[in-house]
Amino acid sequence: MALFEWDSIYSVGDEFIDNQHKRLFQIANRFYNAYQAHQARTVLGSIFDELIDYTILHFKDEEELLRQHNFPEFHQHKRNHEKLIGLVSRYKEQFEQGDEGIEARVLDFLKLWLNGHIMGMDRQYKPYIVESSIRTNVRPMQGTQRQTGTQSVRSKQTNRNR
Ligand SMILES: [Fe+2]
Ligand SMILES: [Fe+2]
Repeated sequence: MALFEWDSIYSVGDEFIDNQHKRLFQIANRFYNAYQAHQARTVLGSIFDELIDYTILHFKDEEELLRQHNFPEFHQHKRNHEKLIGLVSRYKEQFEQGDEGIEARVLDFLKLWLNGHIMGMDRQYKPYIVESSIRTNVRPMQGTQRQTGTQSVRSKQTNRNR
């Protein structure tokens, strides 16, 4: 069962970033399903690690996109990402310590973050990025199946537009 459902209402106007958001939802759902199925803590722990790693990668890519378009609220957005990373690290510590009820608290936090941050802050840059992409003739990132590495796809994008 999917606790986190990506919907087009979550779209930020950039297919590449949308795909990363979808993947975050998928990982969060795997965490939820493993929790529901009473899987071993090691299983939950490795999904949690994957979520943190992918989040760090996603934040870097998203910040790169905002930087490329000189998004005026870039620093505020980046600070918010840093805050989320700080929070998720603290949850991970509590998870490692085996705190009572931590899995449910993690799920609440994921709702706040995936629904809250993406629906709120991420969607705020949508009109700006869409407009800037048209004005500067830089197409929004096209979705790829890329899993790792930030620079390569961005530079490919730049080359494509030359
Ligand atoms: Fe995002
Ligand atoms: Fe963001």
